[in-house]
Amino acid sequence: MKKIVTLTIDGATTRAPKGTTVLDAAIEYGICIPHLCHIPNMTDIGACRLCIVENIVDGRSRITTSCTLDVQEGMVIRTNTERIRHLRRNIAELLVAQAPNSRAVQDMAVRCGVKEVRYPFRNDDCILCGRCVRICSDMWQARAIGFVGRGAERRVGFPFGDRPAYCKECNSCVDTCPMTIVPCEGSMKPGEAHLCGGCESQLSMASGAQEAMCVMCRLGEGFKCSRYGWQ
Ligand code: FES
Repeated sequence: MKKIVTLTIDGATTRAPKGTTVLDAAIEYGICIPHLCHIPNMTDIGACRLCIVENIVDGRSRITTSCTLDVQEGMVIRTNTERIRHLRRNIAELLVAQAPNSRAVQDMAVRCGVKEVRYPFRNDDCILCGRCVRICSDMWQARAIGFVGRGAERRVGFPFGDRPAYCKECNSCVDTCPMTIVPCEGSMKPGEAHLCGGCESQLSMASGAQEAMCVMCRLGEGFKCSRYGWQ
């Protein structure tokens, strides 16, 4: 039986089994921390950095991704301070600049408070969140795709460039990709680098939704995550 630890998240005392991440402990308690690359029950790699929190250690604040931080006894976590909101907004803005045609990323950015994007749009078709890679390896144990290259050359691809025979062609990698979940149809041309405001795709499923309403976003990105329904 796993040891249970007690920690404080945004002033609320909660308990979670040892080995649980702070992100999962927070969501389980009902505190939504925005997240994009996290998939429940799969290995976290801390790629998108949207789930950052302040971990208060000996009175000093450390910024860290909550999906890669395990709960510890007596831990004090702050998820929604002015500092965190500012940093998170900037991270979301960079993600939109990188992938302005992703509706999922646009929705996330809007909900993180991004109103306009100060960075030039790149129209990349991948934000390197690694969701596809982990679905392939953790769910199917296939490892048919992975990260290849370094730095600016880093991308997701097949080993040695060709689809391996052990790829099950299940399409799970495509289904989980934030770039393919209903693309944005807004004006994302050069010179029109702004949030068109036409997305909010998942929110529109519950038009007139209240702040506290679950909108069943497919990414479960942390805002009213469907796993927990009404909060
Ligand atoms: S870095 Fe934690 S969800 Fe992406």
